[in-house]
Amino acid sequence: MALPSSLNLAASQIQAYNLDDLRSCARRVLPKGLFQYVDRGTENESALRTIKASHESIMLRPRVLRGVSDRSMHTQFFGQASQMPLAIAPTGAAGLLWFDGEIEMARAAKHMGVPFILSTTSIVSLERVAAEAGGNLWFQLYMWPDRELSMELVDRVKAAGYETLMITADTPVAPNREYNRHNGFTLPMRISHRNALDVALHPQWFLKVFAKYLLRSGVPSLENYPASLRTSLRQSQTPLKSEALNWDDVKYLRQKWTGPLIIKGILRADDAQRALDCGVDGVVVSNHGGRNLDASLPPLIALPEIIDKVGSHMTVFVDGGFNRGGDVVKALAMGAHGVLAGRGPLWGLASDGEAGTRLALQIYKDEIDRVMAYVGARTLADLDRDLLYIAPLSISNQSRSIE
Ligand SMILES: Cc1cc2nc3c(=O)[nH]c(=O)nc-3n(C[C@H](O)[C@H](O)[C@H](O)COP(=O)(O)O)c2cc1C
Repeated sequence: MALPSSLNLAASQIQAYNLDDLRSCARRVLPKGLFQYVDRGTENESALRTIKASHESIMLRPRVLRGVSDRSMHTQFFGQASQMPLAIAPTGAAGLLWFDGEIEMARAAKHMGVPFILSTTSIVSLERVAAEAGGNLWFQLYMWPDRELSMELVDRVKAAGYETLMITADTPVAPNREYNRHNGFTLPMRISHRNALDVALHPQWFLKVFAKYLLRSGVPSLENYPASLRTSLRQSQTPLKSEALNWDDVKYLRQKWTGPLIIKGILRADDAQRALDCGVDGVVVSNHGGRNLDASLPPLIALPEIIDKVGSHMTVFVDGGFNRGGDVVKALAMGAHGVLAGRGPLWGLASDGEAGTRLALQIYKDEIDRVMAYVGARTLADLDRDLLYIAPLSISNQSRSIE
């Protein structure tokens, strides 16, 4: 008999029965500015609401009496086994939530047999994550305005042994996250008169995370950035993005990168087709977890036409608001090959490091498994669109409680 998630061998002492419990725990331990950097969307947070509504508008039509005692959710991404149809999404500055957080997350992913995608804007360097965690590592690339520096970064990624490269295409300019400004939150994170009280109210976090970095090497920075870019980073206080990124860059990277290449941030079938035409191996249907373009379409709504266009020729992932296993099952039934999880694993990390991240992944696994049984699926191949009932979107004005 399976143990409830909170008792599982990931050995976390955290009492969490679902991802929302982990979110509550993260909220308690993190300074408000940092918690909101992870949690919130952008501008009016419409995208967060439509993501939620899109998940709720899809219902499952279970098949019964299928004999589901022998279930498996094993799959493969680009020829590599994955224990679940899920990968940890790239999330910048995860190392602010826990000391050496990116290493802890990658170790948890390795333990649970799923890919870990490291962000360009990680706190820990890509070389250390590869050396100290290992596992099935992918790297997410934000192209910098200086193309040559970006290509040097890609060379480092290759040399460190990352399997897969993911180009993020949905962030041509810095997003308008006004709450970060209200909270005095910047990247790299500084402690100033704007957030000193907030930090002082979270002494455990300060001692266990920030002070440890200060003692080891100074203010935590974005370690993948070469020295020349760190100066401009300090001045702009927001990670640099290339506004000029275009399909020629994708073609160039396709020639340069011999492993699997993915474009993240696709919401249109014609763009997915264009990626395929450039020789790209996969796309992530994503609106960046509702953190960039506030008026963007929820990924789950964009997904079917993208699957119909390219799904039999390339790997299609989706992300945004997948905080229940049942929602993952809906996307797979629609035809997605895998789901990326961003905030869920981060809440686990903030709660209890590697063990908390494992717990988050175990919760996904338990929930996916349970819902597969309910809909009569023994393997992922048993999930199909006939299991879905899709109602019109109904969007509530209710914001989540964050203050
Ligand atoms: C704190 C945070 C940082 C993120 N940083 C990046 C990043 O550096 N690169 C990127 O491509 N996406 C980034 N994302 C977006 C995630 O990769 C993913 O698209 C999104 O989180 C999925 O939604 P979810 O958080 O609801 O699962 C970030 C998301 C969060 C929450």
